[in-house]
Amino acid sequence: MLVAPSILSADFLNLGSEIKSICQAGCDYVHIDVMDGHFVPNLTIGPLVVKKVAEISSKPLDIHLMVRNAGFFVDLFAPLKPEFMSVHIEEEKHLHRLIQYIRSYGIRPSVVLNPHSSEETLKYIIKDIEMVLVMSVNPGFGGQKFIDGIEKKISNLKEMIDKYNPSCLIEVDGGVNNKNIDLLKIVGVDIVVAGSYIFTNNDYAKAISSLR
Ligand code: DX5
Ligand code: ZN
Repeated sequence: MLVAPSILSADFLNLGSEIKSICQAGCDYVHIDVMDGHFVPNLTIGPLVVKKVAEISSKPLDIHLMVRNAGFFVDLFAPLKPEFMSVHIEEEKHLHRLIQYIRSYGIRPSVVLNPHSSEETLKYIIKDIEMVLVMSVNPGFGGQKFIDGIEKKISNLKEMIDKYNPSCLIEVDGGVNNKNIDLLKIVGVDIVVAGSYIFTNNDYAKAISSLR
């Protein structure tokens, strides 16, 4: 299991040392939650701060865009060369075009499903993407409770991926901890995002390895 700490739960007054600590603790990616106050009822960080994170991080960035008008945000963050850029299916009228646009920057495109969105909506896009990000909370805030029952959606998604695009990864985001990790592994999740579970633990390396 690959682990991507969400810096939403990091100490923002000491962001530099927090990034160094999670990288040294052995995380695989650094998950960046970009919120615009429109798609979700919260605001987080923009490209000026994320640029500094990119400079100090020894691990690739995984950018999760929770925004309206995603193309505008793709342009803002693409120069930072993240590994993945994830866009929500609920917000896009021209998803295929946006996916091609992200790929044109040399970034691996990913599509996010909110808890209410069906995996079936991915049927005609799955072969064009590198990852599906399944939300296990309603996006907008860290520290929320994992929504039970998500495993059926992930199993169905895994079937679709095996059939149409076996190299596509599955990432799960929201309320992930050492209690629900086994179930996520069983149903075929490749990467977990964890914010509060890692950053409220005194020992980041121990928290990360407990998920791995
Ligand atoms: C929610 C974000 C998540 C979240 C994860 O909108 O996309 O990345 O911050 O934090 P935890 O693990 O605390 O749910
Ligand atoms: Zn996220």
